[in-house]
Amino acid sequence: MPAMRKPRGVPAPAAARAQAHANIALVKYWGKRDRVRNLPSVGSISITLDGLTTTTSVHFDPSLDEDRCRIDGRSDDGQRARVIACLDLLRHEAGCDWRARVDSHNDFPTGAGLASSASGFAALVTAGEAALGLSLGASQRSVIARQCSGSAARSVFGGYVEWHRGQDDDGSDSFAECLLPAAEWPLRTLVAITDDGPKTVGSTDGMQRSDATSPFAAAWQTAQPADLAQARRAIAARDFEALTDVAEHSCLKMHATAMAARPGLIYWNGATVEAMQVVRRLRAAGSEVFFTVDAGPQLKAITTPEHASAVRDALQAVAGVQRVIECGLGDGAQVLACGEAALEDTTGDATA
Ligand code: PMV
Repeated sequence: MPAMRKPRGVPAPAAARAQAHANIALVKYWGKRDRVRNLPSVGSISITLDGLTTTTSVHFDPSLDEDRCRIDGRSDDGQRARVIACLDLLRHEAGCDWRARVDSHNDFPTGAGLASSASGFAALVTAGEAALGLSLGASQRSVIARQCSGSAARSVFGGYVEWHRGQDDDGSDSFAECLLPAAEWPLRTLVAITDDGPKTVGSTDGMQRSDATSPFAAAWQTAQPADLAQARRAIAARDFEALTDVAEHSCLKMHATAMAARPGLIYWNGATVEAMQVVRRLRAAGSEVFFTVDAGPQLKAITTPEHASAVRDALQAVAGVQRVIECGLGDGAQVLACGEAALEDTTGDATA
């Protein structure tokens, strides 16, 4: 690969800092049609939160002989290969072979089913684009982020977001787009943390096992277009009841598919199940609220601003719920600083 040519507008040093938020799928992604290119077997629809934030700085430096990666102040070997693969995609776009120093911080537990890889890779691609002076645009950033972590394709955008399954073998039509900006329907999310340790089976392994052994995998895929259509209609019409119906259905169906794999995948603990019952009791008593759960034991309750504090109190009272994080809907990934300013230590530990 040729050494980087310095196009006009590239900051010196070639560094940038960006932030992105976690997203929560209301119609779930579960299953891959191509593991190498990380292509989903189904489309999905999510909301981007305004909390659960990853801030990442990246510095492409010709004096480095290898990529260096730190997550929350620690060299993270578990994520290193994926971070390098992401940097390689960016370097390929820029025609550059400089190695990079990556420093990433989450303001929430990493790897516990709170979409830290979604916010992490959306922030990394956004910082990398700016550091290298690229003008990829959001769709192309979404394509690159998708190759590193599927759900990261959605965290590039804010508000209500759809990630398209796509048809092409090369994945060029599998990217996300905004369906509705956050301010147009400002729902609230209460994240009930029931265990902030790392999950036992990551989503990639879980999907692979599910695709290979679950008798429900084919039915899951066949029904997805109808679920996506219902969610799109519900969002366009701000129809909370219709969104409740399809979101809880999609969540429980995803988990049923995973539970029927061999060996079965059980992502919930007792507090997750109790929190589901609490959400349903609140709804039966008149609150607008529904739940969803990803590949981990945390429960996310989605509600209207009017009902948020009652939902928060009820979840906080569930035995086994350690704490509840409240979020609104947020924006997509954005650049915070470029050049020298991106290297300033804003986290309490050195980036260099
Ligand atoms: O993109 P990944 O590997 O983090 O997988 C995400 C899978 C779920 O969170 C369970 C569902 C989803 O659509 O986010």
